[in-house]
Amino acid sequence: MELKTLFSPGKIGKVQIKNRIIRSATFTNMASEQGNPTEEQIEFYTTLAKGGTGLIITEITSIDQIGKNANAQLCLDDDSQIAGHKELVDAVHEYSEVKIAPQLSHAGRNSFNPQHQPVAPSSIQNIVTKKTPRELTIEEIREIIKNFVDACGRAYESGYDLVQLNAGHGWLLSNFLSPFTNKRSDEYGGDTQNRTKILLDIYNQVKDEMGKKFPITIKLQTNDFIPEGLSLEEGIEIAKLLVDTGYCAIEASGGGIELIARGEKPYPSVVVKTPEDENFFLPSVQKLQQIKKDCSIILMGGVRNPLSAEKILQEKTADFIAISRPLIYEPDLPNRWENGDLSPPLCTSCNQCYGTVMAGSLHCPIKKKAERRKRREEKKKLNK
Ligand SMILES: Cc1cc2nc3c(=O)[nH]c(=O)nc-3n(C[C@H](O)[C@H](O)[C@H](O)COP(=O)(O)O)c2cc1C
Repeated sequence: MELKTLFSPGKIGKVQIKNRIIRSATFTNMASEQGNPTEEQIEFYTTLAKGGTGLIITEITSIDQIGKNANAQLCLDDDSQIAGHKELVDAVHEYSEVKIAPQLSHAGRNSFNPQHQPVAPSSIQNIVTKKTPRELTIEEIREIIKNFVDACGRAYESGYDLVQLNAGHGWLLSNFLSPFTNKRSDEYGGDTQNRTKILLDIYNQVKDEMGKKFPITIKLQTNDFIPEGLSLEEGIEIAKLLVDTGYCAIEASGGGIELIARGEKPYPSVVVKTPEDENFFLPSVQKLQQIKKDCSIILMGGVRNPLSAEKILQEKTADFIAISRPLIYEPDLPNRWENGDLSPPLCTSCNQCYGTVMAGSLHCPIKKKAERRKRREEKKKLNK
């Protein structure tokens, strides 16, 4: 099978993407303390751009200081950061039509930040961080909405091609969506429409300020995978509200860090060992495709086989595919596939990359070991 569709252009809103391969947002822990991209980070993203990905969604980029989860996290909460982000965008744009987007985020209940008590729609303890967030007032919710809108403006000024809102896996925006974490009785809690209101308000306010010139996309919690949480059925109802409002791409996600503590499958970073483990958000994507209208649907999670990705795209089950962990090991995976080497990614999705961003910069420890071994063997050969 030829990879005709995988390497054909697609559109998100009015933005043309050179192929259907998206790099799913992946925290690198490389930013400066002021929230600016560093040289190391620019180098990291230009390597990805050279590797053939069509659209790079960078990583959690905080819209305010309370929503910041780590010191070395990108931010777009101040105009002084625009120049630094522009450098990153310009560096990536040098590579044959690669597009780039920030992922605007607020940590909400997921926050590990020792400097602030986390905030959330309701005061419900996170069983991993062991922290209990403070319930947001309605004025604070309105301020957070404004901070998302302002961050979109700064992203536009920096030259990003589009933005993605992070409404997945336990971050603030997904805390509003879930009946488990949102027990509010005001206009931001209660029924599905009210729990989605924060996302509708952000979109509508961006549109009021900027018109439709800047595409707003979202990584969306479609399923909490816990009985008290958001069901897939309600996740799709939420998606319908977003599609009708004008969001122009939805990357289906689900789960969160607390699933691991409950002994459940660790969505969204499930271990992929067999072909049956692959494409684990396909059930969400299949349902999203039925309600999509002009909105592009992105399949993320365990996408490992280019032939199966091609089939999914050809059958129009998804419009794009997104990859995270395999691109840490092989940033040139898209080029490798396009050049005909269809062997599986070297990444075994062991999740050791998560540990690297707790202690330093993102990398694949398995790749590092393999490179060390190779160097030792080469040295031995030279010494013979
Ligand atoms: C080290 C690491 C950092 C991540 N950082 C983010 C992030 O900043 N934002 C986000 O939405 N997802 C993040 N993810 C989740 C990935 O985007 C992706 O949803 C998940 O790994 C499943 O995709 P994959 O099977 O292609 O790896 C991260 C995953 C890893 C392994």
